[in-house]
Amino acid sequence: MRLDNRVVVITGAGSGIGRACALEFAREGAAVVIADIDISAATATAGLIKAAGRVATAVETDVSKPESVQQLLEQTLGIYPNVHALVNNAAVQINKTAEDTSFEEWNRQLAVNLGGVFLCSKYFLPHLRKTKGSIVNMSSVNGFFVEPTCAGYCATKAAIIGLTKAMAIDHGRDGIRVNCICPGYIDAGLAEGYFQSQADPAKARAEAGKLHALGRIGKPGEVGRAAVFLVSDDASFVTGTALVVDGGFGSGLPPQ
Ligand SMILES: NC(=O)c1ccc[n+]([C@@H]2O[C@H](COP(=O)([O-])OP(=O)(O)OC[C@H]3O[C@@H](n4cnc5c(N)ncnc54)[C@H](O)[C@@H]3O)[C@@H](O)[C@H]2O)c1
Repeated sequence: MRLDNRVVVITGAGSGIGRACALEFAREGAAVVIADIDISAATATAGLIKAAGRVATAVETDVSKPESVQQLLEQTLGIYPNVHALVNNAAVQINKTAEDTSFEEWNRQLAVNLGGVFLCSKYFLPHLRKTKGSIVNMSSVNGFFVEPTCAGYCATKAAIIGLTKAMAIDHGRDGIRVNCICPGYIDAGLAEGYFQSQADPAKARAEAGKLHALGRIGKPGEVGRAAVFLVSDDASFVTGTALVVDGGFGSGLPPQ
């Protein structure tokens, strides 16, 4: 297994892509810390991992709050002597234009999606330095190609790509690799929320598949396996990159 004896902290791992990442990391031998604002969802993910005979811990965490991230760090180090990887996956998506987005919604989205990446990285970096560890940030194809009625979300996902590259430059000499993943539509919570925000959710879901060269939306595990690759030694010379996992979204092909 590629991640034996590694400890990986994953935010937003109570559902969707984060949960799939947790299952894939555990399958590769890692002990996984499931950090989510929804503790019952996080506990459920940890339960799935334990039922498969692997190791996981659920920690209630709000990635937008420094004291909560500090507590996540302390709880992690209370269980494990070292941390080898951080996957910054937690996010919220306000499906509105800039004009319709309230100041509170704007601030909350920035605080969770971008602030969460900053805060978790800030607190865990000193410990990742000890292990020459790795960070994976969850961006989106929306960091490159925007879509209607999710202006603030697209802005945070573009900013995550910039923050990823900046942290890769700043910490590369310490042996820390920092990358991000840009998924296309994935069958998980935020995409479902977007479909539900459209006039005809079923049609929006069907049309979304056609935006991808492969003619379908992705599965959470397909992103989870990319995250495993980026953390593993197979990616030992990969840093500062935005790995696109999108089934050919925006490939230039006409809708099928
Ligand atoms: N689903 C997609 O189509 C898609 C596409 C591209 C990128 N992404 C990215 O993948 C990631 C996961 O998306 P998903 O669709 O699996 O979402 P999801 O809604 O299924 O999961 C998000 C998780 O984050 C948690 N969370 C929310 N706010 C939090 C906070 N403040 N602190 C800690 N945890 C918090 C939620 O409780 C939830 O468990 C996000 O970063 C998203 O931008 C998703």
